[in-house]
Amino acid sequence: MTPIRFDPEQRVFLLALRSSFYALHLTADGRVVHLGSGPLAVPSGDPWPLVNPDAYRVPDHCWDQQLTPHEYPAAGDVSYHECAIRVVFREPGTTPAEGEHFSGSVRDLRPRYVSHEILMDAEPGFAPQHPLRTTGQRETLCILLRDEIHAFAIRLFYRVSPDQNIIERWTEISNHTALPVEIERLDFGHLPLPVSTTELTYFSGSWAREFGTTKQTLQQGIFSLEQGGLNTGHGHNPFFLLHARNHATEEAGTVWFGALSYSGNWSLRFEHLPSGQLRVFGGYGSYDFGLSLESGASHRTPAMVIGCTGGGVGEVSRQIHHFARHWVLPQTERSLRPVLYNSWEATFFDVTEDGQRALATLAASIGVELFCVDDGWFGSRANDSSGLGDWTPRPEAFPNGMKPLADHVHKLGMLFGLWVEPEMVNPDSDLYRAHPDWVLHYPGRPRSECRNQLILDFGRPEVVEHLLTQLDAFVSEIGIDFFKWDMNRYATEPGSVAGRAIWRDHVRGLYRIMDELRHRHPGLDIQSCSGGGGRVDLGILGRCDQAWASDNTDALTRTRIQDGFSLAYPLRAMECWVTDETNYLTKRTTTLDLRFDVAMRGVLGIGTPLTELDDAELEQYRDSIAFYKKIRPTVQNGDLHRLGLAAENGVSVWLVVAEDRRTAVFSSITLENPVGLMRGPFVLRGLDPAARYQLSDLRGPVAEYSGAQLMTLGLPDFSRKAGFGAHARSITLSLETL
Ligand code: GLA
Repeated sequence: MTPIRFDPEQRVFLLALRSSFYALHLTADGRVVHLGSGPLAVPSGDPWPLVNPDAYRVPDHCWDQQLTPHEYPAAGDVSYHECAIRVVFREPGTTPAEGEHFSGSVRDLRPRYVSHEILMDAEPGFAPQHPLRTTGQRETLCILLRDEIHAFAIRLFYRVSPDQNIIERWTEISNHTALPVEIERLDFGHLPLPVSTTELTYFSGSWAREFGTTKQTLQQGIFSLEQGGLNTGHGHNPFFLLHARNHATEEAGTVWFGALSYSGNWSLRFEHLPSGQLRVFGGYGSYDFGLSLESGASHRTPAMVIGCTGGGVGEVSRQIHHFARHWVLPQTERSLRPVLYNSWEATFFDVTEDGQRALATLAASIGVELFCVDDGWFGSRANDSSGLGDWTPRPEAFPNGMKPLADHVHKLGMLFGLWVEPEMVNPDSDLYRAHPDWVLHYPGRPRSECRNQLILDFGRPEVVEHLLTQLDAFVSEIGIDFFKWDMNRYATEPGSVAGRAIWRDHVRGLYRIMDELRHRHPGLDIQSCSGGGGRVDLGILGRCDQAWASDNTDALTRTRIQDGFSLAYPLRAMECWVTDETNYLTKRTTTLDLRFDVAMRGVLGIGTPLTELDDAELEQYRDSIAFYKKIRPTVQNGDLHRLGLAAENGVSVWLVVAEDRRTAVFSSITLENPVGLMRGPFVLRGLDPAARYQLSDLRGPVAEYSGAQLMTLGLPDFSRKAGFGAHARSITLSLETL
């Protein structure tokens, strides 16, 4: 049955997903008004007959129009609250006096329904354009609205993914007037929520402590999250959860959620009206925003992804993970992400062919599948003060170029990867010396450097093409299988030939290079990195296979970061490394078991200086990697159940269950371990109650239990074997049906 229904009599649109719904009403005067959204009473996807939608309307006089939950609130008409769109028509007044009065600007938009259609292949703005994107047919409702007076059109799109209970909303605006129109605010979508939905959870943090979760009760007024630096940001991330106060837990309760599929300046605004109503706006960031629409021009926004579940916060994660795995991440031939080695923490800038060869040989011997050389291999890059922009091997480090190392890595049976930071340039580089105008700057004004670098001006098509040509040739020549694509500064002094459009042009240019590289090299994988987890969002994950969650690889801090990451983003996109015994950032020393238990929760990577390990230690690495490979299909493609969170009670407990429930992976990391305090047993979820599971850790079988017992009495705390005490302890168990 089609998930998008229109009842012409009641003038109601009903989007019925597997277990949630979204309903709109077309009022007699042509307004598109939100009726409601939430879990379905009977989760069957079978919609019910909806009668008397007018009864849900607030009384129709001037003031109460304020309270009408318009589907896409526009600045104008009788509205004075937050809006999703604000336009300025350049309209001369009809009399000389009016001409002066208006100074040629009319800031009044009254969108009214014109028509609607159901499309099968609609795509939001900034959608991936490479052949590895999933293009299965999904229904999209498109509602056309037009301003009552000006020839200005708004199209609202709703693409449904019924199985994942997700709706992607985006907006297209078209200027059919004779004059340019200035857009001062443009959201991808707007979501009105029931009164009392005031408990907000969002990400907050900074470099090296990304993905902290903050929960707060929205008070009357507007709470706004914005990113203004050109990447997605470390401070916040475009994802939110909302529910009624004390009405949702990890396991239960009605929760609405949303995320933005965009990697540039973004905004999420939560308006708690005096009436108690809640409205969520998501779209382009207001920081230096400007969009001028010429006569005849259109602009299509990226998507705001929204959903709702009655199954608590855990179910939110499972839905959005499933959505990302199925519809967002590139569908490559590699159904499993390879075990990676990265040289950063082993060598930092001290990169040489011999040194990397030695690391690669050892990496292959312990089971690594992808060897990535980090920063320091190119141009004059002996440290971070020079070389960015010159993507050719550093002659002192690679006298015969990069091919011999790439060949060595390939001969060892591994894939070969390189770190790049293509959007940047050091002033001390050949590229900058040749093209000092190719960077963001205002003529005659300072060009502030950050980590000694400036940002290339993607408002210039020749810059984007230059990078594409250079990277493309390099991939073909060397045989590169993987880029770690970094972005290590926020944009300031954003002077560009593109004017204020640079904020979008930059993202467009970035996506174009990545998409085109993937198009020309279907075997090329990309990791998104931005000084750690500064560029993780559903836009970048449309063209990157995995993301670096943080530069902080300390196992204990990382546990919190990964708990947070897992709220919104799938485990097969979360790259995690085991690094040196004493962490370079926190100077904390942790056991190898703990480091592996934490890093095995996503896409395993190794960053240890392997040449400093003895044979016994290398053997431990080999065993742990072999164990990871056994549990990897479940970790990377299964459903996550968080049974405990590090930030809440000092122990992070995850269970990942394969779709067919024949395998599962249990992982517990106890960060705080006060003497005398019991942890567990842990009541598991999502298993097959009738099945019998064999539990084993990397050293072999541990126990056998029925699914029913594990989901009632629970799993005893086997990590206690590691001993009581104030130190951290951990365990990873593989569960297999017998
Ligand atoms: C950033 C990345 C690190 C590393 C360095 C290299 O900080 O997040 O992983 O690649 O750059 O300069």
